[in-house]
Amino acid sequence: MTSPRLPDRLGGLAFGGDYNPEQWDEPVWKEDDALMRRARVNLATVGVFSWALLEPEEGRYDFAWLDAHIERLHANGVAVDLATPTASPPPWFTLAHPDALTVRPDGTRLVHGSRDTYCLTAPAYRTAARRIAAALAERYGDHPALALWHVHNEYVTLCYCDHTAAAFRVWLRSRHGSLDTLNEAWGTAFWSQGYTSWEQVLPPRATNWHRNPGQALDFHRFWSDEVIAAYREQRDAIRAHSDRPVTTNLMLPAYQNIDLWALARELDVVSSDQYPGSPGVDAAADVAFHADRARSLGGGRPWLLMEQGTSTVYDGDRILAKDPGDILRHTLGHIARGSEGALFFQWRQSRAGAETWHSAMVPHAGPDSRIFREVAQTGEAVARLGELAGSTVSARVAVLHGPDAWWALGVDGLPSAELDYPAALERAHRALWDSGVTVDFAHPDDELGRYPLVIAPALFLLSDRSADNLRRYVAGGGTLLVQHASGYVDDRLHARLGGYPAAPLREALGIRVEEYRPLRRDERITLSDGTQGTAWSESLHAEGAETLATYTHGMLTGSPAVTRHRFGTGQGWYLSTLLDDTGYGALVARLLDEAGVGAEAPGLPPHVEAVTRHAADGRRWRFLINHGTEPVALSEPAHDLLTGGSLAELPVGGCAVLRLT
Ligand code: GLA
Repeated sequence: MTSPRLPDRLGGLAFGGDYNPEQWDEPVWKEDDALMRRARVNLATVGVFSWALLEPEEGRYDFAWLDAHIERLHANGVAVDLATPTASPPPWFTLAHPDALTVRPDGTRLVHGSRDTYCLTAPAYRTAARRIAAALAERYGDHPALALWHVHNEYVTLCYCDHTAAAFRVWLRSRHGSLDTLNEAWGTAFWSQGYTSWEQVLPPRATNWHRNPGQALDFHRFWSDEVIAAYREQRDAIRAHSDRPVTTNLMLPAYQNIDLWALARELDVVSSDQYPGSPGVDAAADVAFHADRARSLGGGRPWLLMEQGTSTVYDGDRILAKDPGDILRHTLGHIARGSEGALFFQWRQSRAGAETWHSAMVPHAGPDSRIFREVAQTGEAVARLGELAGSTVSARVAVLHGPDAWWALGVDGLPSAELDYPAALERAHRALWDSGVTVDFAHPDDELGRYPLVIAPALFLLSDRSADNLRRYVAGGGTLLVQHASGYVDDRLHARLGGYPAAPLREALGIRVEEYRPLRRDERITLSDGTQGTAWSESLHAEGAETLATYTHGMLTGSPAVTRHRFGTGQGWYLSTLLDDTGYGALVARLLDEAGVGAEAPGLPPHVEAVTRHAADGRRWRFLINHGTEPVALSEPAHDLLTGGSLAELPVGGCAVLRLT
């Protein structure tokens, strides 16, 4: 049993960030205390990268410095999210255990000098990680300052070394049972790849030409299980000494080396990091995309934004400033969608080291800065939202997201490089976000009956079980949109024969795809309804479905491009190309209409984000964020928690949290 939920322990929603006091000295710590009070910080993540200080040599610990910081934070009213430092082993560790260093697919063994340079499958690493997690838990497990455990930091590192090869073989034996089954699953009859002993089987290391797709997919599954096992080991070592909730920070939305649905089931609270890739409205949409995924991974339970940046986003190869006001807007965007607070990386901007130029709550310029002033205002705003703790968000539309489908679109030899899984997910979410609709993500095997509308983008891999599930969903009254290149392969990446997608889904959609026809880069095709497609087209036959738009080019002229099939008491829609934004937005708007799903707060102008949080006792709060270019008059003035007064108009860039009656 874990102790009370985070907001109960903090007396409100969480606000704070990664705190690395080991980079500083006494006068700065004193200033930190004062500034944390000013910014209403109540939670600090400590120890994420402190392994070298905590265990200066194997088995010898030095906790004195951490004791002092934890006591200081506690005395200052700041609770602690204590991390295990296992994402960054110290140099002594890698020198003592060179076999635990990361090996790349091409065989290059990396060296220390950065972070995340370890192999999860190396026995020495796993032992050391368990040991330090247990030592920390033993020492701090019941400290009154301790509110949360933060295992590791973003489990992102893959390794292809010999330890990994050995562990992969064990996993493969258990999955496939025999080499014959493995050979069959991986299609090794082609290219003379047949294995005659387990020792011949390797991780998907660098090869001269396409790597075997089945091997690549199984490697992802194996690695995901390995990460989850490593997380559980640390969590269980902690639980032996502590009743506080345990999490690890996921790296959403665009990174997936783990089956996040499976990992999320192991977390006491889902926590996640978010760094948008572009500024402005796109960043706000990315916040929503991230937050909706984090909430959905936890089955709708409140979750925690573990990291965001104050002033920077990564845009390709440069760091761009966020716009003034974005710190508050992004923070509220996450809280609106179920986060129990907002934390940042990091509290004070480093003056040296690898992330000197990464933003922080206290920038190099110090507290007399726009950034710190915005941080303090945001802390004040979050402090006013305590009554929301524990409330949840409800959505009537789901976008399907399966880890296998993601990995399946990462293997070699696909028909088009423009089959981009995360981009497809993001696009579906964006069209719904633009329509003012709150979105859940769901696994393709989930019970979907509570959603009037489900969108399935890029489910290239669709297991028999998922295909049956989707068929049942439509038969039972759901409206389902399936997008191009879906249901092409089964869960072994074997092509579906006789036409795509998988048979049960074909029945629900009333179509059969005969041929895929990727388009040339930059080629556009116009459909009969005037919309335009890029990247992909398909020769498909309506087998019961009605054709809503046809192709108007080349050999596909006159053949169906968009279809709808009434099946059971529901509808199965199929879209066989990548529509441009306008066309896709119009299609999604039509589907929302058909499914009877309206905007969360109808009547608002474009780019005014509205999300509602609901408490179990019926109380409701509406978050409004004006990303548009005009002020918005509210139809009925309401009490705004942020100002403590009645609000009649939302200015450009403004935010409100209205108590609904
Ligand atoms: C990740 C890490 C942090 C920091 C940020 C920088 O999210 O967890 O330690 O490196 O990236 O964006």
